[in-house]
Amino acid sequence: MGRKKIALIGGGQIGQILALLASQKELGDVVILDIPQFENPVKGKALDLMEMRPLDNTSVNITGTSDYADISDSDVVIITAGVPRRPGMSRDDLLEINLKIIGDVAENVKKYAPDAFVIVVSNPLDAIVYAFYKVSGFSKNKVIGMAGALDSSRFKAFIAMETGYSPQDVQCLVLGGHGDTMVPLTRLATVGGIPVTELLDKETIEGIEQRTRMAGGEIVKLLGNGSAFFSPAKSAMTMAESYLLDQKRIIPSAGLCEGEYGIKDLFIGVPCVIGSDGIEKIIEVELTAEEKAALKVTADHVASVVEETGL
Ligand code: APR
Repeated sequence: MGRKKIALIGGGQIGQILALLASQKELGDVVILDIPQFENPVKGKALDLMEMRPLDNTSVNITGTSDYADISDSDVVIITAGVPRRPGMSRDDLLEINLKIIGDVAENVKKYAPDAFVIVVSNPLDAIVYAFYKVSGFSKNKVIGMAGALDSSRFKAFIAMETGYSPQDVQCLVLGGHGDTMVPLTRLATVGGIPVTELLDKETIEGIEQRTRMAGGEIVKLLGNGSAFFSPAKSAMTMAESYLLDQKRIIPSAGLCEGEYGIKDLFIGVPCVIGSDGIEKIIEVELTAEEKAALKVTADHVASVVEETGL
């Protein structure tokens, strides 16, 4: 059977952490691909990680390249190619440039890794994953966007910070687009099985919801020169692991909705079951009228950005 193979398209901030995580967990051999002018830097990052393996007691191989032939027959492809936002920018401001990049990436992934499970990370996420799906012609279960895993991890982190309890015991779900209109479902959030509404007052909860919606921007502002990379990488690798190990985890992710939640022909954040068939199921949760209305707002926003792609 041999080892699994994971291709990382884009070897920048997120790409390099993805390589670290995949290699430390020995999920498979890792190929980091970037544009020709960054071929040496990704070769350097790969070599650095190769030289870390004796300390980690791991055996997988990590290589850097700018040649798509090297991603041949990858089991998983994770795409971070593109530019990140800078202070003052919204994710949607990246559409034009990242759309061009994803077109090129999609053609090459289709050619060299047609059977891969593809996780898109580049922003604006919901539109870029849609563009990948359209250009590549991949089946809908093999294309997914990384957003909800990160948004819900942020939501969990803030709940843990406000309650003072362990983030390990927090469970919650965020639906909708990867932007300021996302819908954190506080009604379903628990800490150690206890509804969060019994642990925190309304005002604190509203503050957490708002901070979750704006969490990416909070980090962009602090970094001053790029966007978050540790937690996005861990989120995407958690999704890859669920696929590679057939864990069937329920991970909020951008999956193609074809009527689920009343949404048609859009990739948007919904609870996805990820196993060896890719997105094996989208779980539909019964929503209140207020939650439905909030989901409609975020779906309309995503639809307007997708429309700009012209696809
Ligand atoms: N093919 C391959 N790689 C590309 C291409 C391309 N056509 N175009 C750009 N890249 C590479 C860049 O050279 C860079 O190394 O993608 C990498 C992106 O890395 P960073 O600029 O460090 O950005 P990062 O923080 O990793 O974020 C990547 O994920 O969260 C989103 O908004 C974020 O869209 C951004 C993406």
